Amino acid sequence: MCGIIAYIGDKNCKDIIINGLKRLEYRGYDSAGIAILIPDNESDKDNTRNKIVVLKQAGKIKDLEESMKNLDFDSHIGIGHTRWATHGAPTQINAHPHTDCTGKIAVVHNGIIENYAEIKEELIKKGHKFISETDTEVLPHLLEEYNNGSPLEAMQKLLKKIKGSGAIVALNSDFPDEIIGARLASPLIVGVGRDGNFLASDIPAVLEHTRNFIIINDFETIRIKKDKVEIFDLDGKLIKRDPFKVNWSITSAEKSGYEDFMQKEIFEQPFGIKETMRGRLIDGDLLFEELNMTEDQIRNLNKIQIIACGTSSHAAMLGKQLIERWARIPVEVEVSSEYRYKNPIVEENCLFIAITQSGETIDTLAAIREAKSKGAKIVAITNVVGSTVARESDSVIYTHAGPEIGVCATKTFTAQIIVMYLMALYFGKVTGNLSKDQYEKIVEEIKFIPNKIQLILNDAEKIKKIADHIYKYRTFLFLGRIFGLPVALEGALKLKEISYIHAEGYAGGEMKHGPIALTDTNTTVVGIVPKDFVYEKMLSNIEEVKARHATILAIATEGDTEIQKYSNYTFYVPSSIEELYGILTIIPLQLLSYYIAKNLGRNVDQPRNLAKSVTVE
Ligand code: G6P
Repeated sequence: MCGIIAYIGDKNCKDIIINGLKRLEYRGYDSAGIAILIPDNESDKDNTRNKIVVLKQAGKIKDLEESMKNLDFDSHIGIGHTRWATHGAPTQINAHPHTDCTGKIAVVHNGIIENYAEIKEELIKKGHKFISETDTEVLPHLLEEYNNGSPLEAMQKLLKKIKGSGAIVALNSDFPDEIIGARLASPLIVGVGRDGNFLASDIPAVLEHTRNFIIINDFETIRIKKDKVEIFDLDGKLIKRDPFKVNWSITSAEKSGYEDFMQKEIFEQPFGIKETMRGRLIDGDLLFEELNMTEDQIRNLNKIQIIACGTSSHAAMLGKQLIERWARIPVEVEVSSEYRYKNPIVEENCLFIAITQSGETIDTLAAIREAKSKGAKIVAITNVVGSTVARESDSVIYTHAGPEIGVCATKTFTAQIIVMYLMALYFGKVTGNLSKDQYEKIVEEIKFIPNKIQLILNDAEKIKKIADHIYKYRTFLFLGRIFGLPVALEGALKLKEISYIHAEGYAGGEMKHGPIALTDTNTTVVGIVPKDFVYEKMLSNIEEVKARHATILAIATEGDTEIQKYSNYTFYVPSSIEELYGILTIIPLQLLSYYIAKNLGRNVDQPRNLAKSVTVE
């Protein structure tokens, strides 16, 4: 995720910014840059004018540092950025800071500007020149456009114009005593120091300089000077807010106070989902230009082939259920490692989708190459802009979960599922298979997913208590049907990955053909039993294992008291339409595996024998 740091004060800002950027490295990045203000000796012999110097690099911060070696002058005001690409490949030109036409305004940004394309068009008509592929570049040009002698007012106007998310920080060489910031859904904090003040996207960036912080809220703008911090609402009214003190160590600050990255990433899911929906679901309309397909091409599809590995293959399985149900297009799902070697048949009018959070999994890459060699057009769904899979595919749909640091996939999984929901719904609409009413009802429900997931996360303590009771069991069976089956498979995978307990995910109805032989007093059965059309069937399956003395944990719909007759433990998720229980029921299972693994003293962020992206066969 992009990281921001800005400093104005008595000290030389170069080291402060570079060290701050290094502190933000843990968030993941692919390029970095800095803009500082220095006296403009060439055009102004009296030394009263300033100019902005921008240095940026694709790659590591140490490369940026290297390129700064020749900057042998002091500067007391500057901004820095680590970029994690969302719009445009990770190149030097796309790296931040971005500047306006005059070179007097430099901006860094963390977030996504949804309406950047229309703003860019307007600005181009007014004569602005763009050089990058980013959404961010519209920001310095907008500030230039709105400039009326007050950078703060220009920022307030900008904030009213843009849609999307952003923490924005800007430097203006005509105003060498101030830095302006703004927040719209992406984090921005102020560090209040003794020898100067800071803006940053995260506390660790400046924790070595100060322990006093102020949080900026949405739609607020901020002006920092070396000895002054002023926060304003959107109409320019001053807001009074006192700093709070932070006692965290740097390591715990990197995890925002969570114990591990996995825990942090589980709790970040409402945000990752909102970011992934952003720009795709607008006022009830679905936009999928990235698919690069005409409506006729969609209507003519005979089949969809999805390939993926690990957790991504479970998102694919859920996607299959959804597309087949809402759009009635047949979908085949295959794990990449099998697909690549089976001499696959690539039919006409078949859409080929590859799902991979990292975009680097070698089996998925090989499967894509195999399909391409047979004429397939590839759509990739990935979380990493510019990754190899993204580059080798014909079109890319990015999930915007932000970088995932824990080895086991959590927030990237739910972001993939959201893409599957939106895509299935889009296909359902285009094929005419969903009525207007059905479509609108589903859209309404999808909009509430982040809130419902938040409600589940608010109940995490309940899952922790259940985990405290059952963590010593040596066998776990996860049972689900239809939408619950990929959830059962993913629940079992999570538990295996981080707790090293033997766990199996199974279709409820298949259990009597084998796994039931495993069931005894040492077994916990986790039943995914939301109120859907297979609810009664799942109850029977649970009855069968209960009769064999297994301990039962049911993941059920709120208000379902019947289930308690069958289960030893019950965790409730908010009610929804039945297709959406897939995304809601996985959250308690992520938490369950997390708390079981913690009880067993496992390293949840780096489980043994596993890698975040598997680039060898
Ligand atoms: C590794 C990771 C898993 C991931 C799988 C597929 O095994 O540990 O969490 O699900 O690779 O990765 P991909 O990047 O292709 O989604």
